[in-house]
Amino acid sequence: MNAHSLRGFRDILPPESEVFAGAEAAAREVFRLYGYRELRIPTIEAKELFVKSTGDTTDIVEKEMYAFTDQGGREVAVRPEGTPGVVRAYIENNLSQSGRNAKYFYIGGMFRAERPQAGRYREFTQIGAEHIGNPSPFADAENILVLFSILDRLGLAGLSVELNSLGCGGCRKNYRETLLAYLKANLDALCEPCRNRIDRNPLRALDCKADGPALAEKAPKMALCAPCSAHFAKTQELIKAAGREFHVNPNMVRGLDYYTRTVFEVRTSALGSQDAVAGGGRYDDLVKSMGGPQAPAIGWAMGLDRLALLLKDKPRPSADAEAFVVAASEAAREPAFKLLTELRAAGISADSSNFELSLKSQMRSADKSGAAAALILGDDELKNSSCSVKFLKDKREQLTMPAAQLPAELKKLLN
Ligand code: HAM
Repeated sequence: MNAHSLRGFRDILPPESEVFAGAEAAAREVFRLYGYRELRIPTIEAKELFVKSTGDTTDIVEKEMYAFTDQGGREVAVRPEGTPGVVRAYIENNLSQSGRNAKYFYIGGMFRAERPQAGRYREFTQIGAEHIGNPSPFADAENILVLFSILDRLGLAGLSVELNSLGCGGCRKNYRETLLAYLKANLDALCEPCRNRIDRNPLRALDCKADGPALAEKAPKMALCAPCSAHFAKTQELIKAAGREFHVNPNMVRGLDYYTRTVFEVRTSALGSQDAVAGGGRYDDLVKSMGGPQAPAIGWAMGLDRLALLLKDKPRPSADAEAFVVAASEAAREPAFKLLTELRAAGISADSSNFELSLKSQMRSADKSGAAAALILGDDELKNSSCSVKFLKDKREQLTMPAAQLPAELKKLLN
């Protein structure tokens, strides 16, 4: 048996797992402030859900989905993103009827069979936020401000935020012919996949990395209809009024089919080609097209694996035990085990190695543990109802204290 994880799948070990947990905790706190509540959606859904929502002209559905026929002959897929599941849950559970805001967040693994590289994995974690049922630019601004607030909490600076509007169906219908004519006149500049899909989805050629930026820069720009133009202007005004900076990128179209009006992306220059830390936008027609009520919506998702790469060198609270208990004799093993329980009950994180090993070996583990102090119980300590405290991180003298005063005294010493 070759103990190897699959390509593109990885173990997230401490301390990286602690970076993940810290970012999740920060996001949860911000979501609470903004009134977003958690929705837990299934990992596997009917394949058709993603084909119809993420879109059958997207790379995600065309090439990257883990889809299979299950034992019951059903066509299913492992979720490549969270939005379709949230929309399905909204429709299936009649959430539009609840009388409450449909503002939801989710945290979980997503799966795309992309070519793995640094910052790009086949299983990755997203934190996502969806606000369904509010067409107003105030919802756009609020949804985007949630994202800014989470990035603030994480202490991430130097990120650029790009904004664009893809207009409504009407704007796109008018633009489609103009763009198609331009692309057809420049067929040589298009990569093979773009050439194959221009009739189905000409917009995608605008942010295709393979086609290069020149094609997009020279392309005719979409003219927004008056309501879409007003919506975009108001959204920008509200974000600016909140003191946030962004820039408008008229070529950003995003790689999913359901977007209408506002789209946005947060990028970093620190991660090479995998520069998108988060992305999202409005999807005003998706809920209805999936058989639900007319419910315009907006949302985003951020990639936690990429955030973790940006956060890995930032100081964070230590996850090491504060105290490491050592049993220096056979008689001390059970009292030492009891001491561990007392310390934890008093809120002091405590650990030990195997009490049945030698004192030397236990002390070596104590040194490696990262704990601030080793608490040593041996025959002398038992006789005197005391405990020896050896400081492991500073040069304070070893001391002996009455067992009855632990853990209260230890708390003071560790502070
Ligand atoms: P997305 O742009 O496909 O949007 O993904 C959002 C984020 O997930 C990306 O910015 C990136 O940080 C992370 N991500 C995507 N693929 C990978 C990968 N292979 N490895 C590591 N990280 C990755 C969505 O998924 C939409 N559902 C966002 C949304 C919500 N739009 C509206 N509501």
